[in-house]
Amino acid sequence: MCGIVGYTGHRPAEKILLDGLKRLEYRGYDSAGLSLGGKELLTIKAVGKVRNLEQETQKYGELKQTTGIAHTRWATHGIPSVRNAHPHLDNSGKFALVHNGIIENYAELKQKLTAKGYTFASDTDTEVVANLIAEFYKGDFVQAVASALHRINGTYGFAVLCTDYPDTILVARHGSPIVIGLGDGCNLVASDVAPLAAYTRKVIYLDDGDLAVLTPDNVELRTIENLPVEREVSNIDWNVDSAGKGQYEHFMLKEIFEQPESISNTIRGRLDRKLKSAMLSGLGLTPHELAKISRIVIAGCGTSMHAGMVGEYFFEDIAGIPAEVEQAAEFRYRNPIIDPDTLVLPISQSGETADTLAAVREAMNKGAVVAALCNVVGSTIARETGRGIYLHAGPEISVASTKAFTCQVTVLLMLALMLGRNRRLSRDDGDALLQEIERIPDLIRETLKQAPAIEKLANKYAYAEDFFFIGRGTLYPTALEGALKLKEISYVHAEGYHAAELKHGPIALLDDKVPVMALANAIPGQEKMIGNIQECLARHSPVIAVVTGDDNRVCEFTQDIIRVPASSRYVAPLTTVVALQLFAYYFAKARGCEIDHPRNLAKSVTVE
Ligand code: G6P
Repeated sequence: MCGIVGYTGHRPAEKILLDGLKRLEYRGYDSAGLSLGGKELLTIKAVGKVRNLEQETQKYGELKQTTGIAHTRWATHGIPSVRNAHPHLDNSGKFALVHNGIIENYAELKQKLTAKGYTFASDTDTEVVANLIAEFYKGDFVQAVASALHRINGTYGFAVLCTDYPDTILVARHGSPIVIGLGDGCNLVASDVAPLAAYTRKVIYLDDGDLAVLTPDNVELRTIENLPVEREVSNIDWNVDSAGKGQYEHFMLKEIFEQPESISNTIRGRLDRKLKSAMLSGLGLTPHELAKISRIVIAGCGTSMHAGMVGEYFFEDIAGIPAEVEQAAEFRYRNPIIDPDTLVLPISQSGETADTLAAVREAMNKGAVVAALCNVVGSTIARETGRGIYLHAGPEISVASTKAFTCQVTVLLMLALMLGRNRRLSRDDGDALLQEIERIPDLIRETLKQAPAIEKLANKYAYAEDFFFIGRGTLYPTALEGALKLKEISYVHAEGYHAAELKHGPIALLDDKVPVMALANAIPGQEKMIGNIQECLARHSPVIAVVTGDDNRVCEFTQDIIRVPASSRYVAPLTTVVALQLFAYYFAKARGCEIDHPRNLAKSVTVE
């Protein structure tokens, strides 16, 4: 949510900043801006995507400044506009500041500063901080920023320029991620590693309360209490190409097609053929500790929550452990029942989602064993929990999550296998499940072959303004995820429902203009699903049915069929969701939507 990038070195900063912003655009894209340092600051902003800022910047000709900060915004305070776009300057134009996060006491600070004669050009909380730094400035840049930070409540990742320190960027973190890239004759800062990978492999993840002073040849780390600190230097483990679109028109399509490979990476080295189990060493739990787990609570948001809902079935069915899923934002406020034998599994692709992070902190505070399922290595949730299972899905750029979901579900299935073998699952049943997990990449490959047929169906139904997705068992959360994908990228009203629940209200909405996507795979509950399909047809709703293999049981009711390969109910969510991701993609494409950057959304939501 909001992207920050900064560069100080010996090359012109402008291109590096714009390139970095493009790689961060998935974090927010309603406006963008940059400030170039020197004795005077040059600040350029534009509404909309980074390409608009690029066009605006071209009007200034060749820009030679070698220090700068830039920002791509997801609006919290104030509508998307040039006025509200970052960087924000203090009244004197000495300081420029970009910010990710929310300043909770900004109104009170604004009032105090207004009384002292400061004026404000924007509606943002960030501009207040720029003037607050100016208010404390007596010639010492670090001191002024530190003093301002002491007056702030809320969350932030900041990068600040000051005209008296032309080649310096000051950065600080509390609650919003900041990563420093250590280059050769240059240093960079960003809100995640994506813009840094082209310039360096060496990065430092700041902790909350850290402040860093970057010059071309030095990075000095302190706390905001002005005490020196040391932080580990980590290596970036993915290359720039894996974050590119390749031959695909959109990141979303690329990521959908990457799934056989990303799931192979998730599985690699984690299945134990001898013991017919899984080895998930990142959990850091002994077999004895695993055996003591009496309950599992999963917390997540959006797609990650849906993955958790699939996992709930796995843990109860395969391992016999009671499991429940909490929307992460609710977890903190519900006073959840947690004891030392409760395993809390936060799930987050980005590892930065504020609601999920709040749940992590609450669970740790209550003494639970907390192990995170994250994709982004070194992310806040991964670091704070200190134990967990990385997805290894590779960078996911499209705002609508696809490969992270299937890797999350795969990890949950492996975890259920491991916990199951640790208690009631027989060796033979463990072996059967292990073999099925190994087959997942091939099953997804088979499903992807259906893309042309799914595209035809999506084009046929692209007229619809309302859509229902229904499923049962493990395909119930899959239906929720299918509906979420459709609404995220096509802006069409789509609802996921348990097929049995449809008749308890929503069926009132069905008519010939409201199609239903029925997940009618051959898994337990299929007979009842066929009955539910009849109920929809009786209300004149067109029905698209997802079926397994050459199963023709629903063909006499509807001609609109999507075929996915046969699998157990544990793997069916994976094959089925891939078909639904493709459907949403082609549907949105047929309607001319901006697929990778849907309106109002951001990939990483770092506000509660
Ligand atoms: C945002 C994204 C969703 C994502 C959710 C959780 O809302 O738009 O695609 O599922 O955040 O993100 P996380 O990184 O925690 O999985």
